[in-house]
Amino acid sequence: MSNNSAVGIHDLSFATTEFVLSHEALAEYNGTEIGKYHIGIGQRSMSVPAADEDIVTLAAAAAAPIIAKHGNERIRTVVFATESSIDQAKAAGIYVHSLLGLQSACRVVELKQACYGATAALQFAIGLVKRDPDQQVLVIASDVSKYDLDSPGESTQGAAAVAMLVSADPALVRIENASGLFTADVMDFWRPNYRSTALVDGQESVQAYLQAVEGSWKDYGEQGGRTLEQFAAFCYHQPFTKMAYKAHRHLLNYAGFDTDKDDIERAIGQTVAYNTVVGNSYTASVYLALAALLDQADDLTDRPIGFLSYGSGSVAEFFAGTVVPGYQQHLRTEANLEVIARRKPVDYAGYRELHERSFPADGGDHPTPAQTTGPFRFAGLSGHKRLYQAR
Ligand code: COA
Repeated sequence: MSNNSAVGIHDLSFATTEFVLSHEALAEYNGTEIGKYHIGIGQRSMSVPAADEDIVTLAAAAAAPIIAKHGNERIRTVVFATESSIDQAKAAGIYVHSLLGLQSACRVVELKQACYGATAALQFAIGLVKRDPDQQVLVIASDVSKYDLDSPGESTQGAAAVAMLVSADPALVRIENASGLFTADVMDFWRPNYRSTALVDGQESVQAYLQAVEGSWKDYGEQGGRTLEQFAAFCYHQPFTKMAYKAHRHLLNYAGFDTDKDDIERAIGQTVAYNTVVGNSYTASVYLALAALLDQADDLTDRPIGFLSYGSGSVAEFFAGTVVPGYQQHLRTEANLEVIARRKPVDYAGYRELHERSFPADGGDHPTPAQTTGPFRFAGLSGHKRLYQAR
């Protein structure tokens, strides 16, 4: 293979949690008119992790089918993007490396920049594969989105992991070189080290996101990117799915196009199906949008897709990918639908109990109750160490 061969997403698999809370149940508890959730923010349910699930178990569950299909011989790098990190020093990906039995000749790192981290991981992975097209990089985005109970952010929680195998001659999507970048120092959403829940200024965050759409699109044009009308669809980061509609309307306006409702629906509609029932999965969200699009669109062969990845704080990137001929044979549509359908409904009280769980910091033995039926479980803490089990 030459250094000029196309590089991109060769396989994509995702996992989500054991439990699901419907927005009807949340609305019934807090007295919100359900239209605000279903229409106002575009959310119908949220994935809720079991007591023995976390970003590692979700990540391993997402990546396991990829390793089963492609083997691990060519994977010399694992990049784990998250903003719900479990350790300040050790990369969560090392637990995944162990659970999946990856080779020791491998580098494993964790990346953070709010919901943008997985896009940095993807771009860095592409650089590594261009340097040596025989190598593959496993990119994992895994997050549990958690806000305070009874706060405005609560209705936009969720959890999921997406694993992507980045390689030369990819079977799904070739990532193009032109990329539009934007960074601005804003405090729209953050989580200090001493907090388990994020802080967010919702309205500020919507405005910061829209500014970042403008900034990254402007730079994308200056970097020789495509024109807006060339794209078949747009995958936006979706902290709540209505945000994708707001963002696309804003982009059309900014670029001098009409904001026709049907055009916006055609560009966005098929990207929201998974995020609307999973909730915010932070780093994974834009790639869950891609999965939903590829799984549902009639035929996207050779069509360019626009990606807008936003991470509060803030960093954004607009880039493009072209869908590879024959991609339909490599989709995981049935498995994707199954991981969503298999979640068990939890009532409001059950969700609240899971939300309020925390571990004593005393270094004692703190096993977790066996709740998950997924392939991996977080068995608890002992001597300040996290214990994981594969089934
Ligand atoms: N029927 C239909 N729509 C309704 C409604 C009803 N009964 N009641 C309210 N709405 C609409 C509002 O008009 C509003 O729509 P608009 O945004 O198009 O104006 C929308 O529902 C939300 O209402 P709002 O009053 O703004 O809700 P909120 O104060 O609870 O905040 C979020 C909503 C999304 C800002 C809040 O949940 C949040 O902060 N989430 C976290 C955001 C985040 O993750 N940001 C970081 C990453 S980008």
